[in-house]
Amino acid sequence: MREKILTIEYLGNCSVLMRYPGNGVLVDGLFSEKQEYDPPIPWMDEQIIGRDGIFRTLNYLVVSHCHGDHYDKAKVKEALSRGVTAVLPPDAKVKGGHQLPLSEEDGIHRLQLGEMELEYCRMKHIEGTCPDNYCINILAGDTSVLLTGDMDPAEIPRLLEFSRRDHSVGFVNGIALWSRVYRKQLRDLGYENLFFYHLPGEGRGPEGYRRRTLRFWEKCQQELPHGKLLDGPEVIYEVY
Ligand SMILES: [Fe+2]
Repeated sequence: MREKILTIEYLGNCSVLMRYPGNGVLVDGLFSEKQEYDPPIPWMDEQIIGRDGIFRTLNYLVVSHCHGDHYDKAKVKEALSRGVTAVLPPDAKVKGGHQLPLSEEDGIHRLQLGEMELEYCRMKHIEGTCPDNYCINILAGDTSVLLTGDMDPAEIPRLLEFSRRDHSVGFVNGIALWSRVYRKQLRDLGYENLFFYHLPGEGRGPEGYRRRTLRFWEKCQQELPHGKLLDGPEVIYEVY
């Protein structure tokens, strides 16, 4: 049997796990129960912190910003105490453990995560409520994986500053799917695969957001032939 080189798993909300030989990076995987989006799955928290199951090779945690649906300080501290290395926005204000210091060059922090590279760039939050909101770009072999979290859609042109590899996978917010400009800008990015994430579960999330997103997705998905709306955990990419 051939060995898997890169696995990308969507775990719900804005959580994405990437595994690359001997290394695992988890983005926005430890978040709070007290927020409007779907709560974390309890077994997942346990497995992440205990580095068990699919998280056995997890050695890096990356956080886009410190809102409760992306981050939980106590859980991140616990994971740090168990030996995971973290990349956190400055306002995370977590002390101790192993954290990679940010080192900016032309507005982008470039950090090495084992065999993977991370580009971490501060961009405006959609509501302007979070000054330390970061977009994440992870490079693994011939694949680049972009995660925009809650980036303001007006920042899309800046995404072109991130490095791209032969295969490009993007996770973007579906919140602005109603906008023709947003859809066009996403198309123009030219990503091979584009996943819309952060869709709240039934009865959760800001008023009507799930319903509106599903409606616009239904109407406009043919404009985004490389796009897919994620509505639950799934393994989305495996390279052998
Ligand atoms: Fe969010």
